[in-house]
Amino acid sequence: VERLRQFLASPVRQAPTHNINNYWFEHRLTLAFQLERDGLWIFNDPNLDVRITARDEELARQHWRLPGALVSWCQRLSLAAHRRLAQFDHGVAVQRLRHRIGWGARGEALPDPLQRMRAAWPERTHLMWHASQLVGRFGPARRPWDVLEIGSGSAIFTAVLRTQWGGRYVNIDLPEQIAVGFSMLSEFLPEARVLLPHEVDEWGDEPFDVAFITPEQLSWVEGRKFDVAANMFSFGEMSADAVEEYFGLLRRLLRPDGIFYCANRIAKSNLNDGTIRKFDNYPWQSNDVVLHDRTDLSVIPGGSKDHRERVARLAAKSSSAVKLEREALVHG
Ligand SMILES: C[S@@+](CC[C@H](N)C(=O)[O-])C[C@H]1O[C@@H](n2cnc3c(N)ncnc32)[C@H](O)[C@@H]1O
Repeated sequence: VERLRQFLASPVRQAPTHNINNYWFEHRLTLAFQLERDGLWIFNDPNLDVRITARDEELARQHWRLPGALVSWCQRLSLAAHRRLAQFDHGVAVQRLRHRIGWGARGEALPDPLQRMRAAWPERTHLMWHASQLVGRFGPARRPWDVLEIGSGSAIFTAVLRTQWGGRYVNIDLPEQIAVGFSMLSEFLPEARVLLPHEVDEWGDEPFDVAFITPEQLSWVEGRKFDVAANMFSFGEMSADAVEEYFGLLRRLLRPDGIFYCANRIAKSNLNDGTIRKFDNYPWQSNDVVLHDRTDLSVIPGGSKDHRERVARLAAKSSSAVKLEREALVHG
Protein backbone atom coordinates (compact mmCIF):
# COMPACT_ATOMS: atom_id res chain seq x y z
CA VAL A 1 0.00 0.00 0.00
CA GLU A 2 2.81 2.35 0.89
CA ARG A 3 4.62 1.70 -2.38
CA LEU A 4 1.44 2.29 -4.37
CA ARG A 5 0.84 5.49 -2.43
CA GLN A 6 4.36 6.68 -3.28
CA PHE A 7 3.81 5.85 -6.93
CA LEU A 8 0.45 7.67 -7.13
CA ALA A 9 2.11 10.75 -5.64
CA SER A 10 5.29 10.49 -7.74
CA PRO A 11 6.27 12.75 -10.66
CA VAL A 12 6.29 9.64 -12.93
CA ARG A 13 2.56 9.20 -12.38
CA GLN A 14 1.77 12.85 -12.88
CA ALA A 15 3.91 13.44 -15.97
CA PRO A 16 1.91 14.01 -19.15
CA THR A 17 2.07 11.10 -21.61
CA HIS A 18 3.38 11.97 -25.06
CA ASN A 19 1.60 9.35 -27.13
CA ILE A 20 -1.97 9.07 -25.81
CA ASN A 21 -5.06 9.85 -27.80
CA ASN A 22 -8.04 11.96 -26.71
CA TYR A 23 -9.90 9.00 -25.33
CA TRP A 24 -7.17 8.06 -22.86
CA PHE A 25 -6.43 11.69 -22.12
CA GLU A 26 -10.03 12.18 -21.01
CA HIS A 27 -10.25 8.83 -19.33
CA ARG A 28 -7.25 9.70 -17.18
CA LEU A 29 -9.00 12.89 -16.10
CA THR A 30 -12.12 11.07 -14.96
CA LEU A 31 -10.38 8.26 -13.07
CA ALA A 32 -10.00 8.67 -9.34
CA PHE A 33 -8.27 6.60 -6.71
CA GLN A 34 -8.68 6.20 -3.02
CA LEU A 35 -6.05 4.20 -1.29
CA GLU A 36 -6.95 2.54 1.97
CA ARG A 37 -4.96 0.36 4.29
CA ASP A 38 -6.38 -2.83 2.84
CA GLY A 39 -7.18 -1.85 -0.70
CA LEU A 40 -7.37 0.49 -3.63
CA TRP A 41 -10.71 1.93 -4.65
CA ILE A 42 -10.96 2.95 -8.28
CA PHE A 43 -13.77 5.25 -9.31
CA ASN A 44 -15.10 6.10 -12.74
CA ASP A 45 -13.52 3.39 -14.78
CA PRO A 46 -16.12 2.45 -17.37
CA ASN A 47 -13.75 -0.15 -18.81
CA LEU A 48 -14.08 -2.17 -15.70
CA ASP A 49 -17.77 -2.91 -15.86
CA VAL A 50 -20.18 -0.38 -17.36
CA ARG A 51 -22.37 -1.91 -20.04
CA ILE A 52 -22.73 0.29 -23.13
CA THR A 53 -26.44 0.42 -23.95
CA ALA A 54 -27.99 0.45 -27.43
CA ARG A 55 -29.01 4.06 -26.73
CA ASP A 56 -25.41 5.04 -26.03
CA GLU A 57 -24.35 3.44 -29.30
CA GLU A 58 -27.10 5.28 -31.20
CA LEU A 59 -26.01 8.56 -29.57
CA ALA A 60 -22.44 7.85 -30.59
CA ARG A 61 -23.50 7.14 -34.19
CA GLN A 62 -25.46 10.41 -34.40
CA HIS A 63 -22.51 12.17 -32.86
CA TRP A 64 -20.23 11.17 -35.74
CA ARG A 65 -22.68 12.16 -38.44
CA LEU A 66 -22.19 15.78 -37.43
CA PRO A 67 -20.02 18.03 -39.66
CA GLY A 68 -16.36 18.63 -38.82
CA ALA A 69 -16.96 22.16 -37.52
CA LEU A 70 -18.70 20.69 -34.51
CA VAL A 71 -15.88 18.38 -33.59
CA SER A 72 -14.64 20.28 -30.54
CA TRP A 73 -18.21 20.55 -29.28
CA CYS A 74 -18.52 16.81 -29.88
CA GLN A 75 -15.38 16.17 -27.92
CA ARG A 76 -16.87 18.02 -24.96
CA LEU A 77 -20.09 16.07 -25.43
CA SER A 78 -18.21 12.79 -25.51
CA LEU A 79 -16.38 13.72 -22.32
CA ALA A 80 -19.73 14.42 -20.67
CA ALA A 81 -21.11 11.11 -22.00
CA HIS A 82 -18.01 9.37 -20.78
CA ARG A 83 -18.50 10.80 -17.30
CA ARG A 84 -22.16 9.83 -17.39
CA LEU A 85 -21.27 6.29 -18.45
CA ALA A 86 -18.73 6.18 -15.71
CA GLN A 87 -21.34 6.90 -13.09
CA PHE A 88 -24.56 5.31 -14.23
CA ASP A 89 -25.77 2.22 -15.90
CA HIS A 90 -29.50 2.36 -16.54
CA GLY A 91 -29.72 4.99 -13.82
CA VAL A 92 -28.03 2.85 -11.19
CA ALA A 93 -24.69 3.96 -9.83
CA VAL A 94 -22.27 1.10 -10.38
CA GLN A 95 -18.81 2.56 -10.28
CA ARG A 96 -17.39 1.75 -6.95
CA LEU A 97 -14.84 -0.89 -7.71
CA ARG A 98 -12.30 -1.96 -5.23
CA HIS A 99 -9.14 -3.91 -5.85
CA ARG A 100 -7.99 -5.38 -2.63
CA ILE A 101 -4.28 -5.54 -2.05
CA GLY A 102 -3.56 -8.98 -0.64
CA TRP A 103 -5.98 -11.79 -1.25
CA GLY A 104 -7.14 -12.65 2.25
CA ALA A 105 -9.92 -15.20 2.69
CA ARG A 106 -10.54 -15.74 -1.03
CA GLY A 107 -6.88 -16.62 -1.54
CA GLU A 108 -6.99 -19.23 1.15
CA ALA A 109 -10.14 -20.74 -0.32
CA LEU A 110 -8.61 -20.93 -3.83
CA PRO A 111 -4.87 -21.49 -3.54
CA ASP A 112 -4.26 -21.81 -7.31
CA PRO A 113 -3.81 -18.37 -8.95
CA LEU A 114 -5.59 -19.51 -12.14
CA GLN A 115 -8.62 -20.57 -10.12
CA ARG A 116 -8.61 -17.23 -8.31
CA MET A 117 -8.51 -15.37 -11.61
CA ARG A 118 -11.26 -17.53 -13.10
CA ALA A 119 -13.46 -16.87 -10.08
CA ALA A 120 -12.95 -13.11 -10.29
CA TRP A 121 -12.83 -12.50 -14.09
CA PRO A 122 -14.08 -15.67 -15.85
CA GLU A 123 -14.31 -14.48 -19.48
CA ARG A 124 -11.19 -12.31 -19.49
CA THR A 125 -9.19 -15.07 -17.85
CA HIS A 126 -10.35 -17.57 -20.43
CA LEU A 127 -9.38 -15.26 -23.27
CA MET A 128 -5.96 -14.69 -21.71
CA TRP A 129 -5.54 -18.41 -21.09
CA HIS A 130 -6.27 -19.06 -24.76
CA ALA A 131 -3.62 -16.46 -25.70
CA SER A 132 -1.19 -18.01 -23.26
CA GLN A 133 -1.67 -21.43 -24.93
CA LEU A 134 -0.85 -19.93 -28.34
CA VAL A 135 2.21 -18.19 -26.96
CA GLY A 136 3.31 -21.52 -25.44
CA ARG A 137 2.89 -23.18 -28.84
CA PHE A 138 4.78 -20.62 -30.93
CA GLY A 139 7.19 -19.08 -28.42
CA PRO A 140 10.92 -19.98 -28.43
CA ALA A 141 11.78 -23.34 -26.86
CA ARG A 142 14.25 -21.80 -24.41
CA ARG A 143 12.87 -20.71 -21.04
CA PRO A 144 12.38 -18.66 -19.00
CA TRP A 145 11.19 -16.00 -21.44
CA ASP A 146 11.59 -12.28 -21.24
CA VAL A 147 8.14 -10.89 -22.02
CA LEU A 148 7.14 -7.37 -23.07
CA GLU A 149 3.51 -6.35 -22.94
CA ILE A 150 2.19 -3.05 -24.20
CA GLY A 151 -1.06 -1.82 -22.64
CA SER A 152 -1.22 -4.53 -19.97
CA GLY A 153 -4.24 -2.99 -18.16
CA SER A 154 -5.39 -5.23 -15.35
CA ALA A 155 -2.35 -7.50 -15.95
CA ILE A 156 -4.46 -10.66 -16.14
CA PHE A 157 -2.41 -11.78 -19.12
CA THR A 158 0.81 -11.39 -17.10
CA ALA A 159 -0.69 -13.41 -14.27
CA VAL A 160 -1.96 -16.20 -16.55
CA LEU A 161 1.19 -16.38 -18.70
CA ARG A 162 3.50 -16.39 -15.69
CA THR A 163 1.44 -19.02 -13.91
CA GLN A 164 1.64 -21.24 -17.00
CA TRP A 165 5.13 -20.56 -18.31
CA GLY A 166 7.08 -18.53 -15.75
CA GLY A 167 9.32 -15.79 -17.13
CA ARG A 168 10.17 -12.15 -16.50
CA TYR A 169 7.85 -9.34 -17.58
CA VAL A 170 8.06 -5.69 -18.56
CA ASN A 171 4.63 -4.08 -18.90
CA ILE A 172 4.22 -0.67 -20.51
CA ASP A 173 1.06 1.19 -19.62
CA LEU A 174 -0.42 4.51 -18.59
CA PRO A 175 0.14 5.30 -14.90
CA GLU A 176 -3.48 4.92 -13.81
CA GLN A 177 -3.81 1.46 -15.37
CA ILE A 178 -0.50 0.48 -13.80
CA ALA A 179 -2.08 1.13 -10.40
CA VAL A 180 -4.87 -1.28 -11.40
CA GLY A 181 -2.45 -3.91 -12.78
CA PHE A 182 -0.24 -3.69 -9.70
CA SER A 183 -3.24 -4.19 -7.40
CA MET A 184 -4.50 -7.12 -9.43
CA LEU A 185 -1.09 -8.80 -9.41
CA SER A 186 -0.84 -8.39 -5.68
CA GLU A 187 -4.00 -10.48 -5.52
CA PHE A 188 -3.16 -13.03 -8.18
CA LEU A 189 0.61 -13.36 -7.74
CA PRO A 190 1.30 -12.13 -4.21
CA GLU A 191 4.75 -13.72 -4.17
CA ALA A 192 5.98 -11.97 -7.34
CA ARG A 193 8.54 -9.15 -7.13
CA VAL A 194 6.66 -6.39 -8.93
CA LEU A 195 8.31 -3.03 -9.60
CA LEU A 196 6.42 0.22 -10.03
CA PRO A 197 7.60 2.91 -12.48
CA HIS A 198 9.12 5.15 -9.81
CA GLU A 199 11.22 2.21 -8.59
CA VAL A 200 12.76 0.80 -11.79
CA ASP A 201 15.70 3.19 -12.09
CA GLU A 202 16.95 2.47 -8.60
CA TRP A 203 16.41 -1.28 -8.84
CA GLY A 204 19.67 -1.91 -10.74
CA ASP A 205 20.47 -5.44 -11.88
CA GLU A 206 18.66 -7.29 -9.09
CA PRO A 207 16.20 -9.90 -10.43
CA PHE A 208 12.54 -8.93 -10.65
CA ASP A 209 9.43 -10.74 -11.92
CA VAL A 210 7.32 -7.90 -13.32
CA ALA A 211 8.33 -4.29 -13.96
CA PHE A 212 5.72 -1.69 -14.88
CA ILE A 213 6.90 1.33 -16.85
CA THR A 214 5.07 4.24 -18.46
CA PRO A 215 5.35 5.31 -22.12
CA GLU A 216 7.71 8.06 -20.89
CA GLN A 217 10.22 5.46 -19.73
CA LEU A 218 10.78 3.58 -22.99
CA SER A 219 14.51 4.29 -22.79
CA TRP A 220 14.55 1.90 -19.80
CA VAL A 221 13.78 -1.06 -22.11
CA GLU A 222 16.06 -0.02 -24.98
CA GLY A 223 18.99 -2.43 -25.05
CA ARG A 224 16.99 -5.24 -23.43
CA LYS A 225 15.87 -8.22 -25.50
CA PHE A 226 12.58 -10.10 -25.41
CA ASP A 227 11.34 -13.55 -26.45
CA VAL A 228 7.63 -12.77 -26.38
CA ALA A 229 5.69 -9.54 -26.84
CA ALA A 230 1.96 -8.97 -26.58
CA ASN A 231 -0.65 -6.36 -27.20
CA MET A 232 -4.25 -7.18 -26.38
CA PHE A 233 -7.25 -4.91 -26.97
CA SER A 234 -5.06 -1.87 -26.76
CA PHE A 235 -3.52 -0.82 -30.12
CA GLY A 236 -7.10 -0.22 -31.30
CA GLU A 237 -7.39 2.48 -28.62
CA MET A 238 -4.16 4.26 -29.51
CA SER A 239 -3.26 6.91 -32.06
CA ALA A 240 -1.65 5.71 -35.31
CA ASP A 241 1.61 7.38 -34.17
CA ALA A 242 1.64 5.45 -30.92
CA VAL A 243 1.05 2.13 -32.73
CA GLU A 244 3.87 3.02 -35.14
CA GLU A 245 6.19 3.86 -32.25
CA TYR A 246 5.45 0.55 -30.49
CA PHE A 247 5.90 -1.54 -33.64
CA GLY A 248 9.32 0.11 -34.05
CA LEU A 249 10.16 -0.78 -30.45
CA LEU A 250 9.07 -4.40 -30.93
CA ARG A 251 11.10 -4.74 -34.13
CA ARG A 252 14.19 -3.55 -32.25
CA LEU A 253 13.72 -5.48 -29.02
CA LEU A 254 12.37 -8.90 -30.02
CA ARG A 255 15.02 -11.59 -30.47
CA PRO A 256 15.13 -13.06 -34.01
CA ASP A 257 13.07 -16.08 -32.94
CA GLY A 258 10.86 -14.01 -30.63
CA ILE A 259 7.13 -13.77 -31.28
CA PHE A 260 4.51 -11.03 -31.11
CA TYR A 261 0.96 -11.94 -30.04
CA CYS A 262 -1.53 -9.29 -31.12
CA ALA A 263 -5.29 -9.48 -30.40
CA ASN A 264 -7.34 -6.43 -31.22
CA ARG A 265 -10.50 -5.25 -32.87
CA ILE A 266 -10.57 -5.66 -36.65
CA ALA A 267 -11.58 -1.98 -36.77
CA LYS A 268 -12.06 0.25 -33.76
CA SER A 269 -13.57 3.71 -34.04
CA ASN A 270 -12.37 6.19 -31.54
CA LEU A 271 -15.38 8.35 -30.78
CA ASN A 272 -13.27 10.99 -29.11
CA ASP A 273 -11.25 12.01 -32.14
CA GLY A 274 -13.13 10.41 -35.01
CA THR A 275 -10.30 8.10 -36.10
CA ILE A 276 -10.62 4.42 -36.96
CA ARG A 277 -7.77 2.08 -36.13
CA LYS A 278 -7.72 -1.02 -38.35
CA PHE A 279 -5.81 -4.18 -37.51
CA ASP A 280 -4.83 -4.55 -41.18
CA ASN A 281 -3.37 -1.06 -41.23
CA TYR A 282 -1.00 -1.54 -38.29
CA PRO A 283 2.54 -1.19 -39.65
CA TRP A 284 2.99 -4.89 -40.47
CA GLN A 285 5.70 -5.55 -43.04
CA SER A 286 5.54 -8.00 -45.94
CA ASN A 287 8.62 -9.79 -44.54
CA ASP A 288 7.02 -10.43 -41.13
CA VAL A 289 6.45 -14.15 -40.67
CA VAL A 290 2.82 -14.81 -39.74
CA LEU A 291 2.64 -17.99 -37.66
CA HIS A 292 -1.05 -17.83 -36.80
CA ASP A 293 -3.92 -15.59 -37.88
CA ARG A 294 -7.51 -15.90 -36.72
CA THR A 295 -9.96 -13.36 -38.06
CA ASP A 296 -12.88 -14.17 -35.79
CA LEU A 297 -12.53 -14.74 -32.06
CA SER A 298 -16.19 -15.56 -31.43
CA VAL A 299 -15.28 -19.26 -31.08
CA ILE A 300 -13.27 -18.40 -27.96
CA PRO A 301 -15.25 -17.63 -24.79
CA GLY A 302 -14.71 -13.95 -23.99
CA GLY A 303 -13.81 -13.15 -27.64
CA SER A 304 -16.03 -11.79 -30.41
CA LYS A 305 -16.30 -11.81 -34.18
CA ASP A 306 -15.05 -8.22 -34.17
CA HIS A 307 -11.70 -9.32 -32.79
CA ARG A 308 -8.73 -10.74 -34.62
CA GLU A 309 -5.52 -12.30 -33.35
CA ARG A 310 -2.14 -12.87 -34.94
CA VAL A 311 1.11 -14.42 -33.86
CA ALA A 312 4.02 -13.13 -35.92
CA ARG A 313 7.76 -13.03 -36.00
CA LEU A 314 8.44 -9.38 -36.72
CA ALA A 315 11.22 -8.54 -39.18
CA ALA A 316 13.67 -5.74 -38.43
CA LYS A 317 12.39 -2.38 -39.57
CA SER A 318 12.51 -2.26 -43.38
CA SER A 319 15.16 -0.01 -44.91
CA SER A 320 12.48 1.86 -46.90
CA ALA A 321 10.63 2.67 -43.66
CA VAL A 322 13.88 3.86 -42.09
CA LYS A 323 14.61 5.94 -45.24
CA LEU A 324 11.14 7.55 -45.13
CA GLU A 325 11.66 8.38 -41.46
CA ARG A 326 15.02 9.99 -42.18
CA GLU A 327 13.53 12.01 -45.04
CA ALA A 328 10.71 13.17 -42.78
CA LEU A 329 13.33 14.30 -40.24
CA VAL A 330 15.40 16.13 -42.88
CA HIS A 331 12.31 17.89 -44.26
CA GLY A 332 11.03 18.70 -40.78
C1 LIG B 1 -8.87 -1.87 -23.20
S1 LIG B 1 -7.43 -1.80 -22.21
C2 LIG B 1 -6.80 -3.45 -22.44
C3 LIG B 1 -6.01 -3.91 -21.27
C4 LIG B 1 -5.52 -5.36 -21.33
N1 LIG B 1 -4.56 -5.56 -22.42
C5 LIG B 1 -6.67 -6.31 -21.45
O1 LIG B 1 -6.85 -6.88 -22.53
O2 LIG B 1 -7.40 -6.49 -20.47
C6 LIG B 1 -6.30 -0.79 -23.14
C7 LIG B 1 -4.99 -0.55 -22.42
O3 LIG B 1 -4.12 0.23 -23.27
C8 LIG B 1 -3.44 1.18 -22.46
N2 LIG B 1 -2.94 2.29 -23.28
C9 LIG B 1 -3.64 3.25 -23.93
N3 LIG B 1 -2.81 4.11 -24.56
C10 LIG B 1 -1.55 3.67 -24.29
C11 LIG B 1 -0.24 4.11 -24.67
N4 LIG B 1 -0.06 5.16 -25.45
N5 LIG B 1 0.82 3.40 -24.22
C12 LIG B 1 0.66 2.30 -23.43
N6 LIG B 1 -0.55 1.84 -23.05
C13 LIG B 1 -1.62 2.52 -23.47
C14 LIG B 1 -4.50 1.59 -21.45
O4 LIG B 1 -3.96 2.24 -20.33
C15 LIG B 1 -5.14 0.25 -21.12
O5 LIG B 1 -4.47 -0.43 -20.10
